[in-house]
Amino acid sequence: MARPHIMFVQAQMIPWSRGLHGDARPDVECKTLSRDDTDDSASCIVRYPAGWQRSTVEQLACHEEFLVLDGAIEINGRLYEKHTYAFLPAGYRRERARVRHGCVLLDLFYATPSLRTAGMSQHTPNPAEFDERLLVEYVNPLLMDWDPGLVDPQLSKGVAIKPLRTDPYTGETSFLYCSPPHRVPPGMAKPQWTHPMVEELYTLEGDYVWGDLGRMQRGGYCWWRENVYHGPAGTDTGYNLFVRTVNGPLINTFDTVKKPFSWDPPHRPMLPPELAPYGQPLPPQPNY
Ligand SMILES: [Fe+2]
Repeated sequence: MARPHIMFVQAQMIPWSRGLHGDARPDVECKTLSRDDTDDSASCIVRYPAGWQRSTVEQLACHEEFLVLDGAIEINGRLYEKHTYAFLPAGYRRERARVRHGCVLLDLFYATPSLRTAGMSQHTPNPAEFDERLLVEYVNPLLMDWDPGLVDPQLSKGVAIKPLRTDPYTGETSFLYCSPPHRVPPGMAKPQWTHPMVEELYTLEGDYVWGDLGRMQRGGYCWWRENVYHGPAGTDTGYNLFVRTVNGPLINTFDTVKKPFSWDPPHRPMLPPELAPYGQPLPPQPNY
């Protein structure tokens, strides 16, 4: 079946395993956040050791989308530093790659992360080897302004977006989404909401408080399935989220009934059996 509903797991709780589920990178460590057992697509945290390198041409058989969480990786001579982003379509040529001091990626694979056959990877570069309309070779969000005009006007004020990619075929979109601190539901009550598509969330920084699920902290991850209502939500600290829609553009659908919100909701994540052992809350980290 497609990927199960995950709301939410702290990536810090998931153990590392060796290599990816495809054969592309046996020499990295991986935490699997979610994986589809029909098309083998998956969302992972991938840790490259210091000194990792490839000096031969490599082409993945699937699209790879990534955001650097920590450290840096160099691909084709370009350095991807913390919070930079890319969408490299299946067949994109990596002439060489290396990691000097270690690197951790939020790494999204659109099918099994395996290598294209060696024979194919040796011939001269041919742009038709990958779909250029899908290529987003490099985005540095630190050089972009936050744009509040891109946010759905149904959402309360104060949030803003840095766009990363919109798929020209499907309208699927990836972006950074930030809130300032002290964004409180008016009267401590708001309707829940949902979407007709999957929404994937990764908490880069800050706390995102779900009235129905608990306090999601940095490293918190969601695979929010279609038409499941959650919330209301608020933030005392502010947050910076990576968001991706799957199976269509972003659409928010609000319920009509207001539900109560509190800053300390019970920790009640909704997790599939494989993630249930890692469903504990992170210990609080006081700033004093
Ligand atoms: Fe949403």
